[in-house]
Amino acid sequence: ELVNATEMLKKAKAGHYAVGQFNINNLEWTKAILLTAQELNSPVILGVSEGAGKYMAGYKTVVGMVKGMMEEQKITVPVALHLDHGSYEGCLKCVEAGFSSIMFDGSHYPIEENVAKTKELVKITREHGMSLEAEVGSIGGEEDGVIGMGECADPKECKMIADLGIDFLAAGIGNIHGKYPANWKGLSFETLDAIQQLTGDMPLVLHGGTGIPTDMIKKAIDLGVSKINVNTECQLSFAEATRKYIEEGKDQQGKGYDPRKLLAPGFDAIKATVKEKMEIFGSVGKA
Ligand code: G3H
Ligand code: ZN
Repeated sequence: ELVNATEMLKKAKAGHYAVGQFNINNLEWTKAILLTAQELNSPVILGVSEGAGKYMAGYKTVVGMVKGMMEEQKITVPVALHLDHGSYEGCLKCVEAGFSSIMFDGSHYPIEENVAKTKELVKITREHGMSLEAEVGSIGGEEDGVIGMGECADPKECKMIADLGIDFLAAGIGNIHGKYPANWKGLSFETLDAIQQLTGDMPLVLHGGTGIPTDMIKKAIDLGVSKINVNTECQLSFAEATRKYIEEGKDQQGKGYDPRKLLAPGFDAIKATVKEKMEIFGSVGKA
């Protein structure tokens, strides 16, 4: 059974560790993440972007795959199925499809509109026992070839959104999606501290988990981050392992072209990445 992410993140905040959100793209991704969480006795959040939802043939397909896999693979650790960076419409679709958690990303709206839409979704998620993540201050990253540097959220706006009754809050603190550029200035702990002071017990979410140095991750957890999103890093390790397999010509030996063989090194690579992250985040043994 899927659970919402409220309880696991409250526990994480109180226990000074973070739960990883790992984004899924297909069956291999889902299986690698779920099996690793079970092996390490760690709670886990499966993230699904709107694009990945479409790629996987729709949100209901995703719910069916995840629930079926949990039952047949005997996954007993807490698992939340979470819409990542959802639009208002996307959020409604995931409520209907049976997700246990959603993120409404209203960071590109003027704050009044972000507040109004977030408020609506608080009401809807309460009716369905789901958890809700909201975002303030956009998270940087590549868009149309331009790399945004990751602006910092206004702590007062964070408090406004946090007070609406959401369950956890994503706030820009200089973090960026995808790879970090060489001239990246690092996370703004000053901003994070100011946000944490104003929002109290609210678990905070760190997006753009790929490539943040371990000491910065640990400091962010100390300052109230309880959920860390990782996407690109699993893609990089999957691609590297798959490329190596093909370049070594293993797909041409025996039945190496069989997708079950061809995708196995990438699957193992995702497992290793997820394990490494869960160890750094401190969620191992916390299920
Ligand atoms: O919402 C997803 C994450 O913020 C992933 O960021 O691809 O940089 O790991 P990342
Ligand atoms: Zn993100």
